[in-house]
Amino acid sequence: MATESTVTKNIESILQENRLFPPADGFINQARLNKGSLDQLRQSAQQDHESFWASLAREELTWQKEFTQTLDSRNAPHFRWFYDGALNVSYNCLDRHLGKLGNKTAIVFEGEQGDTRRLTYAEVQREVCKFANGLKSIGIKNGDRVVIYMPMVPEAVIAMLACARIGAIHSVVFGGFSAESLKDRIEDAGAVCVITADGGHRGGKIVELKAATDKALAHGCATIKNVIVLRRTGHDIKFDRGRDTWWHDLVENQGPDCQPEWVDSEHPLFLLYTSGSTGKPKGIQHSTAGYLLNSVVTMKWVFDIKDNDIFWCTADVGWITGHSYVAYGPLAVGATMLMYEGAPVVPDPGRFWKICQDHKVTIFYTAPTAIRALMKQGDDYPRRYDLTKLRLLGTVGEPINPEAWMWYHTVIGKEKCPIVDTWWQTETGAHMISPIPGAMPTKPGSCTLPLPGIDAAIVDEKGNEITTPNQGGYLVIRKPWPSMLRTIWGDDQRYKDTYWSKFKGKYYLAGDSARRDEDGYFWIMGRIDDVLNVSGHRLGTMEIESALVAHPKVAEAAVVGKPDEIKGEGIFAFVVLRGARPEGGIDETLTKELRAWVSEQIGPIARPDEIRYADNLPKTRSGKIMRRLLRTIATGEAITQDTSTLENEAILQQLQGKA
Ligand code: WT7
Repeated sequence: MATESTVTKNIESILQENRLFPPADGFINQARLNKGSLDQLRQSAQQDHESFWASLAREELTWQKEFTQTLDSRNAPHFRWFYDGALNVSYNCLDRHLGKLGNKTAIVFEGEQGDTRRLTYAEVQREVCKFANGLKSIGIKNGDRVVIYMPMVPEAVIAMLACARIGAIHSVVFGGFSAESLKDRIEDAGAVCVITADGGHRGGKIVELKAATDKALAHGCATIKNVIVLRRTGHDIKFDRGRDTWWHDLVENQGPDCQPEWVDSEHPLFLLYTSGSTGKPKGIQHSTAGYLLNSVVTMKWVFDIKDNDIFWCTADVGWITGHSYVAYGPLAVGATMLMYEGAPVVPDPGRFWKICQDHKVTIFYTAPTAIRALMKQGDDYPRRYDLTKLRLLGTVGEPINPEAWMWYHTVIGKEKCPIVDTWWQTETGAHMISPIPGAMPTKPGSCTLPLPGIDAAIVDEKGNEITTPNQGGYLVIRKPWPSMLRTIWGDDQRYKDTYWSKFKGKYYLAGDSARRDEDGYFWIMGRIDDVLNVSGHRLGTMEIESALVAHPKVAEAAVVGKPDEIKGEGIFAFVVLRGARPEGGIDETLTKELRAWVSEQIGPIARPDEIRYADNLPKTRSGKIMRRLLRTIATGEAITQDTSTLENEAILQQLQGKA
């Protein structure tokens, strides 16, 4: 965790963005919420936080058993919401729509190679039931953990919903993670089954998901009894007849009806692993009712979702964004959502815009890193396509720089689409701070204001709210909210330590620093812990360090972030070898080997951009690695820190690549 001085240094912000963009009249006139109705919502949340959420839960969710209790805080920081109620998420996402929307398209799918599919609500419901029956037929039951390691195809969502239907707890592992990462997650969750595919199409290549699964299971994962394999690419794979079942064989003789398993509101819907400040990822545990409620209300408030929208969130289902805004949120509100399997640059950087045109996308939600990468390709690509159906744009994952925001606004949104810059986290389950697009002006780079019922604030070291405009501090959430994480799977102490200990159990600590401007708008300034944000994905520096030191040639490693034009942050590693330091600090073969190694251990997104070798790492006399100094060095800035406490000042030259 950062010290007070690093926090205050980080947040002495000089960025002053004064441009204000009110929503266009055309948008305001059709919006679900306008200024007046938003004010009313905020007021009712302020008057009575619990009844506010209780009435939304009654209106927005379909219950098998109505709840009578709203919030239980007796065992804080463990909170229970609507806890004596019972429901089923797949019922809420599918069955309850069938009467009116059975023939409405639920999922529009486009594969990387251009193949398309459309599935109606009735079809998805049928597929979910058949697959859920298949899961039951191999003995999977309520409470079992099931790992989903799939490409971005409709079956990934069908698998999630099928787990929810029978009360099994899914844990989706991003298809870009390595066999090693998959194994760690399977073992931590104690999963009994992996659902995967022969492969997926991405970047013009086949992602070998089944091969990675085999590798993960080869040395461990003793709890796994079954592997279910979807045929997607059709290429040759190894098949273990005793353990593996084809998806199509599993569902072949299953009936199309499957009674939903009614579970308690607090029943864990899923685990999702995310990085923290130690080497071991955290299994964030989400609930059923509370989680679903925030997904639903944010679809309405933030995305202004309507019956005839085509909603496209580009996130992979392996991240929380793909859970809340590909799978659960859009389906729970009966929307039509689009899923795209592949990379944004295949066959060329116009692919996203072509998809928007071809499928008449109206709401488009992506990450700043994608916007920056596509912006760099010039305006010609988006100009080639008809983007006039777009009416709302969104971003998530990291602060968006005003330049990228303006490009998004003018070139993609043609100055008529509001941009919702949504701040939230794996832990929060749904948007927490975000514009309500028809009800307030936006500013490029600000996620604006907390949503109704979300008590976000910025506090100082002692937990006092900072009221001076533009003075930075810790971003906290002061009141519990329905979709908050419930614990860290298998490590409740870490849950308490990470999120609640800093402010003595009073506030949820988000781990970000932020400031509010004169209008109270929030500006996120970055993480306060040793977590990097690479292309909108969270990576722990410790996680990459442990991967590096697991290599036989590495004795010690320190990893820091370095600002990167496209990725937000790049990965810079300082390495001490077991043997001698390479001549002049250069050994390209070894550098290649180490980068590939990290890629194997965690996944390609964790591969260091740069590696520098030194005889030692800079440490204080008490033995702490001087990370701030390393960050300065990685950035190539002049060293202003006091280095007199350094054990060995000579290595500074090596670290700077000068010796
Ligand atoms: C961290 C959470 C929530 C889905 C994607 C990432 C950063 C997220 C924003 C935003 C500035 C943002 C924060 C946060 N972040 N959204 N709109 N503006 N920063 O989920 O992997 O759990 O990461 O992403 O630092 O703490 P995640």
